Amino acid sequence: MNAAFPSPSAAEAGNLAARLLATRKLTLDLAAPLSDADASLQPFTEASPAKWHLAHTTWFFEAFVLRDHVPGYRPFDERFHYLFNSYYEGEGARLDRSRRGMISRPSLDEVRNYRAAVDEALDRAFSVLEPDAQALVELGINHEQQHQELLLTDLLAAFAENPLEPAYGELPPPTCFAAEPLTFHAGRDGVVEIGAGETRFAFDSERPRHRFFLEPHEIAGRRVTNGEWREFIADGGYRSPALWLSEGWDWVRSSGVDAPLYWRADETAFTLAGRRAIDWTAPVAHVSYYEADAFARWAGARLPTEAEWEDFAASADPNLGNQLDQAGPVLPRPGGGMFGDVWEWTRSAFTSYPGFAPVEGAVGEYNGKFMCGQFVLKGASCATPRGHSRASYRNFFPPHARWQFTGLRLARDS
Ligand SMILES: [Fe+2]
Repeated sequence: MNAAFPSPSAAEAGNLAARLLATRKLTLDLAAPLSDADASLQPFTEASPAKWHLAHTTWFFEAFVLRDHVPGYRPFDERFHYLFNSYYEGEGARLDRSRRGMISRPSLDEVRNYRAAVDEALDRAFSVLEPDAQALVELGINHEQQHQELLLTDLLAAFAENPLEPAYGELPPPTCFAAEPLTFHAGRDGVVEIGAGETRFAFDSERPRHRFFLEPHEIAGRRVTNGEWREFIADGGYRSPALWLSEGWDWVRSSGVDAPLYWRADETAFTLAGRRAIDWTAPVAHVSYYEADAFARWAGARLPTEAEWEDFAASADPNLGNQLDQAGPVLPRPGGGMFGDVWEWTRSAFTSYPGFAPVEGAVGEYNGKFMCGQFVLKGASCATPRGHSRASYRNFFPPHARWQFTGLRLARDS
């Protein structure tokens, strides 16, 4: 029995097959507008080709569910194990991450055939899967949802390299506007509880739920906007070393960064919908932890901790503790609130909660081994699939990363 990834209850199991199908279909739908060439681009090591995402999410089900739990299952193609294992040392040798853009074969159509074959095998096996295997299907669904978002952010990074500025598709409208004045709200202080409970799916890194002590503090009612970021730039924010962490200042100087990623000089930004005029009232996106931290200092505030953020979100709506609804289209989301538009940097390092124990076997490598040198992001973005958000969710990226939809909300001591 897999303690950190609990098996779905009997009632959830029926719905599991339907959610699996819907999740698998959404990934294909997201890739539908892409040519094989589009789907093979890898703009930099951390961003993978769309075709690789399509295949790797399939490999995850093939390796951890079909191979390990369905007697007699034969892999679709033995060679794919090497190509599409991402980072699981327990699964043996794999293609170097920086070389994923070299996989012109299998073709996009062959990868779609791979997906169809694995989906069919999962469908045949579903009625006899043991609870342990069902828990891995649940993990595989949530894993694939994470890759749906990565597919879009990696594609944005790839298309941004093309001087023809191709458009992927329309974007959902932002849900947060600067028409809302910036207000600060008192968070709870004293002993609070954070982390995921035991009843619904959560990643192992969100557990166990535990007590945490908060000092008096306030959190902003909305995210920082593009207009506010423009003021930071105009005020010399990128040229003022006193605002920056030492490592952040080194990064600014060596990278030459002077604006959010994808901003162009003429008040436009490159987006999944092509080049667009910057909406100054929308939340700023594609900033690094270093930039978010410097902006907060410039604004006379700081970034919230993950516990402050989570308790604020959970106290605003207790039902956000563990959302789990149907897989659906990538947005639009309900207006305002703590989820949507951009992930929000926190000042908390991604590390283990007291009592954290990764599960046994290769899937134990899912989160635990990345607990070094990364910061927690809370909320969700415009590219996060519906049903994938909850207050306890802990996204994480290294402090220089900014190709995700990453923004910020201010906090301050009180
Ligand atoms: Fe993965």
